[in-house]
Amino acid sequence: MFLEFPKGFFWGAATAAHQVEGDNYNDWTDWEEKNSIRLARSAIALARQADRFPEMFDADNYISGKACNHYNLFEKDFDIAKKLGHNAHRFSIEWSRIEPEEGKFNEAEIEHYRKVIRALRKRGIEPFVTLWHWTNPLWLAEKGGVAGEKFPFYFSRYVKKVSQSLGEDIKFWITVNEPNIYASLGYITGRQFPGKRNILLGIKAFGNLISAHRAAYASIHENDKFATVGATNNIIYFDPKNNNPINLLMCRIADYFWNIIFYKKISDSSDFLGCNYYSKKSVGFFGDAKKTDKSDLGWDIFPEGIYYLLKDIAKLKKPLFIFENGIADADDSERSDFIKNHLASVHKAISEGVDIRGYFYWSLLDNFEWNKGFWPRFGLIEVDYKTQKRTIRKSSYVYSDIIKNNGIEL
Ligand code: FCB
Repeated sequence: MFLEFPKGFFWGAATAAHQVEGDNYNDWTDWEEKNSIRLARSAIALARQADRFPEMFDADNYISGKACNHYNLFEKDFDIAKKLGHNAHRFSIEWSRIEPEEGKFNEAEIEHYRKVIRALRKRGIEPFVTLWHWTNPLWLAEKGGVAGEKFPFYFSRYVKKVSQSLGEDIKFWITVNEPNIYASLGYITGRQFPGKRNILLGIKAFGNLISAHRAAYASIHENDKFATVGATNNIIYFDPKNNNPINLLMCRIADYFWNIIFYKKISDSSDFLGCNYYSKKSVGFFGDAKKTDKSDLGWDIFPEGIYYLLKDIAKLKKPLFIFENGIADADDSERSDFIKNHLASVHKAISEGVDIRGYFYWSLLDNFEWNKGFWPRFGLIEVDYKTQKRTIRKSSYVYSDIIKNNGIEL
């Protein structure tokens, strides 16, 4: 059976500055230095993968350092994306490069991103630009970072500058990435930067990201009436262990707070909504978690989940994009099926009338996976971090055929 996607569908992959560029100096880099030894020690929690990924016990794994040196190798990386037929690419601009000192913008770095955008356009690839993918300039960290009083103001000032400087080459803007993950892992569980455990700060950070999005939306539109602006959030399918009413209620609550509330708050100032989907979570006090295949990170693989979530988010009546969907799969044994099965679910939503405009696999390259470091391998392209050699994984060609045919054969 052949499942065809709408004409003009955007197909590509995503990256984020801090995870691929190398040589960044921002608040996250600072945290890496302070936490790498602790992270290496606590990796024991993932020990079922220890034989395959001994790097997880090495403190160096947790330092982003040169990453993929994509800052210098972007042309080569985009050559590969083009060869694979991608017609779109999502990447992020690193705020700490653009505004290394408060209120002082670095024109050379703006020029760098102009080159990145033009390199994409030259290859017929539509740029989708994320303005904030979790990292901040150091001066901002001193003012309380994302939870600081004036975060929305600082963010929209930076966005104004970027949109005035680069706007003529950009149609699609993604203001903020995954406020829910950032606020909860950063401020509530403390598992990643800034490592706080304070619910009130978490709520403040989340609220600030909503305000920041709204302010950025206005300032981009002021500069360009025709720009298309949205934000992207992480979505999870909450799966009740069994149908006990308490389990079901817990799922509904989790679903509302994780998957819906952010979109509701921003939908009147968004031209589209972005969804990043990876996995499901089993919920409830009663029954056992259903067994599913897992990625190298131990995340449940559950392609049906994205269908239900897209149907739900579609009630807000905005065009949708899938800006991230991918798997940590070092030996590339699951990735092709992962992509196909998720796309089948996306297609099902489209065939029932959901307006979905594009799909971006996470990620174009293996990269620095935040508090897990380099060992998880998400890339369509394998990266040898010692030599910076790129090797195209087999699943990339499967994805490439899907793009060529604008559909999947099941
Ligand atoms: C998402 C992040 C992205 C990447 C993937 C695996 O939560 O947005 O940067 O790390 O997870």
